[in-house]
Amino acid sequence: MSATSERKKRQSIIDACRSMNVLGINQGTSGNISLRHDTGLLITPTSVPYETMQPEQIVFMGLDGSFDAAQRPSSEWRFHLDILKARPEVNAVVHAHPPYSTILAIMGLEIPPIHYMIAVAGGDTIRCAPYATFGTQELSEHAVRALEDRMACLLEHHGMIAVGPSLSKAMWLAVEVEALARQYHGCLQIGTPRLLPKAEIKNVLGKIAGYGPAGK
Ligand code: 13P
Repeated sequence: MSATSERKKRQSIIDACRSMNVLGINQGTSGNISLRHDTGLLITPTSVPYETMQPEQIVFMGLDGSFDAAQRPSSEWRFHLDILKARPEVNAVVHAHPPYSTILAIMGLEIPPIHYMIAVAGGDTIRCAPYATFGTQELSEHAVRALEDRMACLLEHHGMIAVGPSLSKAMWLAVEVEALARQYHGCLQIGTPRLLPKAEIKNVLGKIAGYGPAGK
């Protein structure tokens, strides 16, 4: 892979980070993004504000978790790495603490089938992975499990993960998940929302496959 295309990938990660701020799905420096690259992945550095983040600060990590000792990958590199290892169809992982997703995660709630768009995350629910300390292998294992047959999950007392075959698709899904979380939160203010039947979500899953932005 050429140095130019690697540089473009690094810049696309920074651009996605900055757009998380514009979209209101990021809080401070708590989001992180990875993109499959060559024999490993490229991942955001830990605790660097997106406004000042430079392409050379993005960390290349091997699939064995190795990285240049002079660099500091996101504290959440374990789940980024484990998701990319477990899911060959996934090329991008987006993690953030979006307000409504995090409210539901604090309450330990999964998102049920309140709206047909839940199908864009791959099933009739968006699961909430049990709590484990940030950056740990335990959290990584919970996340991989909650993502089984899914493209997004919540993390209890923590935030949200959205994955995709491309960075643009993972970012798009992160926005959709936050919208669903906001809708569910709103419904809970009024009462107990009615849910779509499993059979209807199955029907929608068939129709919605491939929906969302194309591109890298
Ligand atoms: P970073 O280490 O990527 O800055 O993330 C911190 C965090 O809040 C992870 O959940």
